[in-house]
Amino acid sequence: MDSLAAELRDAGQAALWEHAEQLAEPQRSMFVVQLREVDWRHIARLYQAAVAPGTGTDAIREKARRAQPPERLIRLADVAAEHLQQARARGEAALRAGVVAAMVVAGGQGTRLGSQAPKGLLPIGPLSGKSLFQGFAEQVLARGRRYGTRIPYLIMTSDATHADTVAFWREHGLFGLADEDVRFFCQGSLPAVDAATGRALLAAPGQLALSPDGHGGLLAALQRSGLLRELAARGIETLFYHQVDNPTTIVCDPVFLGWHLLKGAEVSTKVVAKRSAEEPMGVAVTVDGVTQIIEYSDLPREVAAQVDSAGRLRIWAGSTAIHAFQRDFLEQAAADPRGLPFHIARKVVPYWTPETGFVEPSAPNAFKFERFIFDVLPWARQPLMVEVDRSAEFNPVKNRTGADTPETARAAVQAVYRRWLREAGAIIGDDVPIEISPLVALDADQVRAKVAPGTAFTHPVDWSRPGE
Ligand code: UTP
Repeated sequence: MDSLAAELRDAGQAALWEHAEQLAEPQRSMFVVQLREVDWRHIARLYQAAVAPGTGTDAIREKARRAQPPERLIRLADVAAEHLQQARARGEAALRAGVVAAMVVAGGQGTRLGSQAPKGLLPIGPLSGKSLFQGFAEQVLARGRRYGTRIPYLIMTSDATHADTVAFWREHGLFGLADEDVRFFCQGSLPAVDAATGRALLAAPGQLALSPDGHGGLLAALQRSGLLRELAARGIETLFYHQVDNPTTIVCDPVFLGWHLLKGAEVSTKVVAKRSAEEPMGVAVTVDGVTQIIEYSDLPREVAAQVDSAGRLRIWAGSTAIHAFQRDFLEQAAADPRGLPFHIARKVVPYWTPETGFVEPSAPNAFKFERFIFDVLPWARQPLMVEVDRSAEFNPVKNRTGADTPETARAAVQAVYRRWLREAGAIIGDDVPIEISPLVALDADQVRAKVAPGTAFTHPVDWSRPGE
């Protein structure tokens, strides 16, 4: 007890100890367990860094001024059909060999969307209303079947999403995936602190206001869970990584995996052309020879706005947050004593104090500390950026209204299916609703095999269940 009290005092958190002493059992013991799980000296250092003038952000912004378009890049327009075919064949060979696993990060709180349930439960199927999770699980299942293998699917949750996510998958029989192929693992949490004082906030009496430690929490969570060892034992060499909120992700895309492997990359990232200089999206750049992703808030406006002689954005490569990683690279990164850096976000965090009771602030009042997985990029000797078609592959659900909503994402998935039908020579209007389960067709080629050229579709095309 004394050591905890001393740690809290040294870290400027004496109020937490006083609060613990006022609680009755068993709440007090439970609170003490929570307090012990936090490295309070580390939190104090992070807070100091957040408020110290002229550090952190300024240095990053200064560096961003030297940003160049990314080196080691595959540009869509430059790829010959024959090279595309080679990449596809290489990716397919890896899938057939059973050395690829898929991984989704689903620990975020989805605050902008404002739903209480984890984002992966969001109904996205335009006709079936099937969830984001189901769409991905069906892709994993279908691709495994296509290549005569079983693809492990790793699902990262957080304290905020774990219980609901696991229950949902179990209720749905893991969407047809085998028990030994689905692995849930939970990322860590960190306390949010009051931006003005650095004091940890309470969510309720005897309860810290905790939030997930960012998708970069993946490294530590993979390590802790023993999954990296399990994957090695299973012969997995490459991991396809994606986020839970983009329904048009091509899970285990053979072409992308193929480029990653052909180029000998340790980590690869899909990028898309930014729509405008102001678009709030991380960008892939090379600074002083090091390829990395810079958050949009760290890219000075005048750098973001630079254009080339043809009037195109110079810093154009927006990150889709879709990556491929070599397993051994992730192992080294997880063991790297440098650790991923922390980013500081000013957010609205509701809190409780004995004096005020519960407070729902209307403006950002707190700092949250998060790690981002893309910060492993500078640790790679051979990173690779692969440009993809934005409308086909990057349509995330972020907001309740405006851009990137469930509605825009549903429209985008239908546009993809419609394009597949048209490529097969079918006739379908823009207003005909459509859904195609991955178990029916994973891509345009599989649709072509099902549809005779000239077929006209005038009624909703509901191929949302296998057997259609
Ligand atoms: P976002 O940064 O968009 O966050 O996450 P979010 O939680 O979905 O939404 P907001 O910002 O609260 O509105 C991008 C991806 O990273 C995952 C999310 O689940 C999503 O797939 N993520 C984010 C985690 O897995 N853990 C985290 O701590 C943060």
